[in-house]
Amino acid sequence: MPARLVVLVSGTGSTLQALLDATADPSYGVVVAAVGADRAGCEGLRRAERAGVPTFVCRVADHDDRAAWDRALADHCAGFGPDLVVSAGFMKLAGPVFLDRFGGRFVNSHPALLPAFPGMHGPRDALAYGVKVTGCTLFIVDAGIDTGPVAAQRAVEVHDEDDEQSLHERIKLAERGMLVDVVGRMLREGYRVTGRKVTIP
Ligand code: GAR
Repeated sequence: MPARLVVLVSGTGSTLQALLDATADPSYGVVVAAVGADRAGCEGLRRAERAGVPTFVCRVADHDDRAAWDRALADHCAGFGPDLVVSAGFMKLAGPVFLDRFGGRFVNSHPALLPAFPGMHGPRDALAYGVKVTGCTLFIVDAGIDTGPVAAQRAVEVHDEDDEQSLHERIKLAERGMLVDVVGRMLREGYRVTGRKVTIP
């Protein structure tokens, strides 16, 4: 039986696309069971629909408060029986109920080498700081903002002529490879989290 992924998106979904492409090959051993978004009509949802993958939308504005949204998001995801939930450009912080249900099984891809440049603007913040190398990080989500144990990182050079967009695009190339490689291995081979250390055989 292939392992099951739920992928959460908010925007373009180009990193989701890398996972959709990889899962099209049965030897990858993973299926995308569903793609969820916190907004309707984003390109990420359309990519899922084109691939024949079920989608759901869970908007904060449709719930009484953040806690109710958090519960609903967890329920939506749980309905698809995922082995792992991947946040791939999902621009919301999951709350305590979600983390309770999916703690240790919820990973996020971030466009910087954490703990440098957490938050919403990793590439912009790296450029503003003037670093020569940045990259991307796949981590197990905990209750902090981009603070969880690191599963994988890839380094990306910053070029003198980079602007935020060109740098982010180069980082996304690395993110796509990292996600396909590491999420696949985590699901096929398993992984262990010991304190802050993530070990994938
Ligand atoms: C990715 O670079 C992802 O790391 C980033 O959004 C981009 C989504 O791209 N996420 C964050 O910055 C979360 N803090 P995509 O929509 O083309 O996949």
